[in-house]
Amino acid sequence: MPRPTLSVIGLGYLGATHAICMADLGYDVIGLDVDAGKVEALANGTVPFFEPGLDELLAKVLPTGRLTFTTSYDDIAEAADVHFLCVGTPQRKGENAADISYVDAAVESLATRLRRPCTVVGKSTVPVGTAERVAEQFAHNEVELVWNPEFLREGWAIEDTLHPDRLVFGVTSERGEQTMRAVFAPIIDTGVPVVVTDLATAQLVKVAANAFLATKISFINAMAEVCEVVHADVKKLSEALSYDERIGGRFLHAGLGFGGGCLPKDIRAFMARAGELGVDQALTFLTEVDAINQRRRARMVDLTRELLDDSLSGRRIGVLGAAFKPHSDDIRDSPALDVASRLHRAGAHVTVYDPAALANARRDYPALAYAESAVDAAAGADAVLHLTEWPEFVQMDPEVLGAVVNRRNVVDGRNALDATRWRAAGWHYRALGRP
Ligand code: UDX
Repeated sequence: MPRPTLSVIGLGYLGATHAICMADLGYDVIGLDVDAGKVEALANGTVPFFEPGLDELLAKVLPTGRLTFTTSYDDIAEAADVHFLCVGTPQRKGENAADISYVDAAVESLATRLRRPCTVVGKSTVPVGTAERVAEQFAHNEVELVWNPEFLREGWAIEDTLHPDRLVFGVTSERGEQTMRAVFAPIIDTGVPVVVTDLATAQLVKVAANAFLATKISFINAMAEVCEVVHADVKKLSEALSYDERIGGRFLHAGLGFGGGCLPKDIRAFMARAGELGVDQALTFLTEVDAINQRRRARMVDLTRELLDDSLSGRRIGVLGAAFKPHSDDIRDSPALDVASRLHRAGAHVTVYDPAALANARRDYPALAYAESAVDAAAGADAVLHLTEWPEFVQMDPEVLGAVVNRRNVVDGRNALDATRWRAAGWHYRALGRP
């Protein structure tokens, strides 16, 4: 079978990475976004967000001519054999449910223009039942619909795209499966497991995976709450649990909890969908998972207040980290910025530094103060808060920071600093879930 031409609809973290990686694997790829600025940036070799290695990979594939970008649905409808749907599904304002209007708009734009047989592959994270509705939209054309959830982590997007733990194909026919096996052959040939299933299961796999990961993080953070009252050490507890292979140590790091554009909104959307389906009881535990996660942020503020003689008003606080996690500039539902804002609202003077997310933070949180380095953020501080575990913070010399602060108080919200080293340098070190 000749190599199919691919289109990728939606050029955010997921779509841009997918488009660039598939072009690198040798496919002709057309990336589409309705945001002309994004399209122009990518066409000129600039990735409009921070993702390690992606700029370099884009620079490598652009000269081959295999990767082009457009804002026109007519272009992709005419040229592509396989269309990947990668648009976002954010949380609806004031509700738990997902906003699938971008999916609906993309499907409508494509469906009205398709004049040739093709395959549409849904990658967006959607409430179960969406794919079946989308399939109806294409029913009058010779269009095969497949659901292929994406599990990529920001910061590891290339690795997760080219070497995923598994590929999941939700199909309704043998032809759909064959197309997917052909398109993903370069990846499948490296030994990646493939799970072929129906549309509903494929949609559920994604939200189930994220619900499990969120639960695992909140489990260890619940243990941290208990540790705090009995002066136990959640880091040691987590380490001891991790040697049990049935439990495993990944996603068992206690701290400020999860944020980002996926886990928080996906568990909420999952609960909302379960409610619509009449099985809300099956997922009520996720309410608690969410609540534990939120309580960590409140605890971080309380711990800081305790350290500062029970008063935040007028205190100077240096915040290290704004991104929801290291190796990303994404600040969606960032625990770090949530804590920084709460401290600001409580009257503290908060100065934030982050190696990659400063521009995004400045735009969305204009009330906070910002610095261009960790040392500048900590200058004159009564307390330094470590809220996103970037390697440059973890490796930082506590003496260097100690020289510029007003008081050597540090709260490690990610349990990632070397407590012994910081204490030896005269810092009053506090962390979540540890003595
Ligand atoms: C997540 C899923 O991992 C990915 O499979 C899915 O496709 C999208 O959602 P991502 O949002 O990029 O990916 O971040 P992830 O690495 O999962 O981290 C999520 C949050 O959990 C971060 O805020 C991180 O700091 C936090 N976290 C992670 C913990 O607090 N403890 C841990 O042990 C692990």
